[in-house]
Amino acid sequence: MNILNDSYKLNTGATIPKIGFGTWQIPNGDEAYSSTLFALRSGYRHIDTARVYGNEESVGKAIRDSGIDRRDIFLTTKLPADIKTYNGTLETFETSIKTLGVDYVDLYLIHAPWPWSDRGGDYTEGNIQAWKAMEEIYKSGRAKAVGVSNFNVKDMQAILDNGTITPAANQIRFFIGSTQNEVTEFCQEKGILIEAYSPLATGRILDNPEVKKLADKYEKTVAQICIRYTLQRGTVTLPKSTHEEYILQNADVNFVIDEQDMNYLNGLRDIDPQS
Ligand SMILES: NC(=O)c1ccc[n+]([C@@H]2O[C@H](COP(=O)([O-])OP(=O)(O)OC[C@H]3O[C@@H](n4cnc5c(N)ncnc54)[C@H](OP(=O)(O)O)[C@@H]3O)[C@@H](O)[C@H]2O)c1
Repeated sequence: MNILNDSYKLNTGATIPKIGFGTWQIPNGDEAYSSTLFALRSGYRHIDTARVYGNEESVGKAIRDSGIDRRDIFLTTKLPADIKTYNGTLETFETSIKTLGVDYVDLYLIHAPWPWSDRGGDYTEGNIQAWKAMEEIYKSGRAKAVGVSNFNVKDMQAILDNGTITPAANQIRFFIGSTQNEVTEFCQEKGILIEAYSPLATGRILDNPEVKKLADKYEKTVAQICIRYTLQRGTVTLPKSTHEEYILQNADVNFVIDEQDMNYLNGLRDIDPQS
């Protein structure tokens, strides 16, 4: 059984492969093109990009050149976090679709509730305006699902109170020791899928001795333990790599971490606390 074919169901009824290929910090051009193409040829059917990653062009080209039926690939892109207007959202979506060279995306996310330059700022009204446009895009059929990213409970509640469509997903920072339990439980109770971004803590968890010990026990790598952990927590997982060996290894996670070890991992402190 190939775990790359395993999927969750979104609240739209659509399926979403549990493992997605992350593309943040992969430069547009040959690197994004060849790593995305390699991931697709290795069986990945879910690609995660964003307007601000600057690589939509190469990601889209890899999807077209893969020869895989577009309907068999789940493609996510994101609205830049500093766009908080209705018209700005519609216009930016058009730019993304054009740059990707696709007719539709499978998931369109508001990248963050605040611009990165004002992390934590209150943009509730802007998010409500952007969400209205997200709903229009969804209704047009050009995004098969819409959702959010980096939203906390308060941010989510504002969308639920003011929107007419429940977000399909919330993509959040989620890895061993850093699992944002409050918003995770809030979303999971409401049928909003949690997508775990940075499942390897952007590489910073890879030399963690506690996880390494467990990896040795299971005869797996630290990366595989981290990815498997996020799956067993019921989240989509989005590992990123530009190395073919790692792209393959990150999808080779068809094993089970037992309950006791899951509890142990759940209890680990955040190895990479954000300032
Ligand atoms: N919505 C958001 O705000 C947001 C924020 C961050 C991330 N994301 C999404 O989540 C994806 C993943 O997060 P991330 O990019 O922070 O990184 P990550 O997947 O947590 O870690 C990637 C790092 O780990 C290395 N790596 C990958 N697999 C490995 C393996 N098997 N063995 C050893 N090293 C390995 C990679 O190296 P190489 O690349 O050199 O191989 C890279 O340095 C992003 O690409 C993006 O799609 C979303």
